[in-house]
Amino acid sequence: MGSMGKKYALITFGCQMNLHDAERISGILEGDGWAPSAGEEDADAVILLTCCVRESAEQRLYGRLSSLKSLKERRPVIIAVGGCLAQKEGSRLMQRAPHVDLVFGTHRYPEIAGLLAEAERGGVCDTSMLGVPITGTPYRRGDHFRAWVTITHGCDNYCSYCIVPFVRGREESRPMDEVMEEIEAHVADGVREINLLGQNVNSYRRKEEGRSALAQLLRRLGERFPDTWIRFTTSHPRDFDLEIMRAVAETPNVCEYVHLPLQAGSDRILKAMNRGYTRAEYLEKAQALRRMVDGLSLATDIIVGFPGETEEDFRLTLDMAESCRFDAAFTFLYNPREGTAAARMPDDVPGEVKQARLERLMEVTRRLTAESLKREVGMEQAVLVYGPSRKDPRRWAARTMNNKLVHFPREEQDLGGKLVRVSITASGSWSLQGKPAEVLG
Ligand code: SAH
Ligand code: SF4
Ligand code: F3S
Repeated sequence: MGSMGKKYALITFGCQMNLHDAERISGILEGDGWAPSAGEEDADAVILLTCCVRESAEQRLYGRLSSLKSLKERRPVIIAVGGCLAQKEGSRLMQRAPHVDLVFGTHRYPEIAGLLAEAERGGVCDTSMLGVPITGTPYRRGDHFRAWVTITHGCDNYCSYCIVPFVRGREESRPMDEVMEEIEAHVADGVREINLLGQNVNSYRRKEEGRSALAQLLRRLGERFPDTWIRFTTSHPRDFDLEIMRAVAETPNVCEYVHLPLQAGSDRILKAMNRGYTRAEYLEKAQALRRMVDGLSLATDIIVGFPGETEEDFRLTLDMAESCRFDAAFTFLYNPREGTAAARMPDDVPGEVKQARLERLMEVTRRLTAESLKREVGMEQAVLVYGPSRKDPRRWAARTMNNKLVHFPREEQDLGGKLVRVSITASGSWSLQGKPAEVLG
């Protein structure tokens, strides 16, 4: 209890890994006597967790840092920057923003309390990647009904465009018993949905045991916690094998939702990306999944404008989107990330061509999403209620097992965290409207 009475503010950019790391940092700090502040204004330390995949996240960080500079001119406050961009930039970040007191890397979260204390006495930069990553650290769950559970850390895939292996370190899987115990504690505490996390969950324990244990983990979770929804992200098409497909299909509480990043539809580009699968192999897996898993939602990530991408390559990507009938797609403009293999290739697709291709792609994926939502109209679905809708608090926001967002009218009864059967009455571009039929519990 070294820091009784001190308050911290935590601002998170980037993906679910960072959101979960934020829960970890909260857990550690609160164990050390810190409390969350109401906002940045009354914080003794402002901690930013950064991302370096998206250029916009980087720009937003520096924007945020410059507004924090004026806060620091008014009163003493520790400014700490952690996460992936901190790992990548290290002391360069302090040169660019000298009012930052602490830069800490992705392997240093367990020591955060000590690092903050040290930073009070002068600037500290620690981005060493040695030492145990964050296994079994305490964390404060940000949500009552949903929990994220890391099953693998890091990534060994080295897709040529991607910075993640450099900033998150080598792939490492947590032991299955440890994962089971952590989930047991969440379920005992009222959690209804578990999200298994990793950069490539399909290779869970492959490095340690010679073969993937994801299918086995899903089946064990099915037996032990049959009433808890299980999601997992992200999958890699190369490693999504028949055994995992069967486990998804045959375990009723494993959600019918697979996030399977395609990245590109042309074999030439897939090869240059070092993805390890062909267009035909992806399509075969997507079709097998659709056949085996009733009501499957298939989501994907696609990059446009990778070095050397021609109009023909791009058309093959559009064609794949149609053939796979993606229910949801996250689309990205390629941007070179320093230190990656692709950053050494000429970034030769002109900006306006990249932008035009992105728009053409989004036109297709938006239509596919709207069609996918439309197919639900008239059906009854069990949904888990996440809470009041942020846009319209007179409605509940809930998700189906296949991850479709449903809004329905909010009456007196508190349905947060409840399973409710709703009939789907209408669909829009991104979400569904429903009418509650029965509270399932
Ligand atoms: N581990 C996950 C997510 C990695 S980052 C996976 O393997 O799928 C999330 C997404 O960002 C990627 O799927 C990719 O589509 C996109 N992305 C990563 N690096 C990028 C870059 N340099 N330019 C554009 N998009 C990128
Ligand atoms: Fe990046 Fe590829 Fe690893 Fe995903 S699988 S984190 S895209 S290197
Ligand atoms: Fe996630 Fe961004 Fe890091 S996508 S792993 S927070 S670089």
